Amino acid sequence: MIADLVISGATIVTDTAQFSASIAIKDGAILAIGDAAAMPEAKETLDATGKYILPGAIDAHVHFREPGYSHKETWETGTASAAMGGVTTVFEMPNTKPPTGTVEALNLKLKAAESAYVDFGIYGLLGESNLDQLEALIEGGVAGFKCFMGNTFANLPSPPTGAILEGFEIIAKHGYRIALHAENASIMARRETKLKEAGRNDPLAHLAARPPVVAVEAVARAAILAEWTGARIHILHVSSGDELRPLREAKARGVDITAETCPHYLLLDEHAYTEMGSLIRVNPPVREKSHQDQLWAGVRDRTIDMIATDHAPHSAAEKHKDDIWCADCGFTGVETQMPLMLTQVSAGRMTLNDYVRMTSTAPALAFGLYPRKGALLPGSDADLVVIDMDRPETVDSARLQSKSPSTPFDKAEVTGMPIHTLVRGRFVMKDRTLMTDARGHGLSVRRIQRMPTPTPKNLEHTTAAILAAKPSR
Ligand code: NCD
Ligand code: ZN
Repeated sequence: MIADLVISGATIVTDTAQFSASIAIKDGAILAIGDAAAMPEAKETLDATGKYILPGAIDAHVHFREPGYSHKETWETGTASAAMGGVTTVFEMPNTKPPTGTVEALNLKLKAAESAYVDFGIYGLLGESNLDQLEALIEGGVAGFKCFMGNTFANLPSPPTGAILEGFEIIAKHGYRIALHAENASIMARRETKLKEAGRNDPLAHLAARPPVVAVEAVARAAILAEWTGARIHILHVSSGDELRPLREAKARGVDITAETCPHYLLLDEHAYTEMGSLIRVNPPVREKSHQDQLWAGVRDRTIDMIATDHAPHSAAEKHKDDIWCADCGFTGVETQMPLMLTQVSAGRMTLNDYVRMTSTAPALAFGLYPRKGALLPGSDADLVVIDMDRPETVDSARLQSKSPSTPFDKAEVTGMPIHTLVRGRFVMKDRTLMTDARGHGLSVRRIQRMPTPTPKNLEHTTAAILAAKPSR
């Protein structure tokens, strides 16, 4: 058999091991991993001596803005950014225009995604007004769901708790994971009003409007609803140390709950507000240093399962405002995650195996893609990234692929760069250059894994069971 490509000389890194080996790729999949001498003949070879090969990163949280806000980002620019960042699969969020709450809207998004460089899953919206659409969205090809418990960019209304419960019941039957923007809408709306009445419009007012209780309440509530319905849930962008306790408690109770944090919560603190002004406005907010320290502890003890980016591009004009309440929330991140976090690996704050687990294996497992993705195994998709752990670089926002490259990490000194990115065996980035002919190579991913059907805590209490029950007298 003749392979399409053999990469030799590198150290292979998985979530549990590191070893020297060559890797052979054929028809988009990994054909063999082993001694150079044992590799089949290949049409193309790549010498990666001194480099590391990791399974490509799977970013469970990006906003690519199409349809509706293509002045901020497009699928083409967003996935080009991913390719340059060593990210081979992204999960894209439904707060577009129209929101991804109907099959019609999903089809518009799938059309926009035809320009993708990397593979992608699309989140369907779980909202109060589209509970009757959830099963059609599953049929139509979503990879998971997203529920906005609190307001954020695009201001999609947060469903009342009763609607969230019913949505969980419907989705639980199908095993799809539901990602939550876990912030309590009511608490922060009242805080924001009071701060505005008091004349506050400085950057730190944003932090004051969203204290940790906003997130803690929502995480705990989501966990209870998941426990009662058997729904699988994922807590997006954990920003406070306080959220770790309800996460740990829910995991201990057996709730199928995963959690992510993002580089900005691990690397920045309250000084960012004075240093960067409105650029740093993001939901949930970057918090005080003590939270950062607790989040690292949560990474180490595995309460936090994943690192995602919440890539949330907005134009420079939309980010830079004198009045903090007028600045759009979020910033780009999909292209800088890997260099930033590899720098932390080199600093000894996590191992390369931890890094692979948090950026690839864990999201693949959580969203039912493992072992097709998130693994370096014969038969897995050849989604991989070749990295140079010693390569120094200065993050330069002007050179990022994103249409809206505002980032709090502009000019950051990093060590460790993705050099080549392959999606199903095809280079989408080679020698730090985007392979523009790979535009459109990305495909939609769907859950492939059979997972045990979840058991709700109290079957007789589901909405369907209550409606079916006959009155006893
Ligand atoms: C995100 C966006 O801009 O879409 N903004 C943000 O501040 N994180 C939405 C979100 O993930 O909350
Ligand atoms: Zn969010």
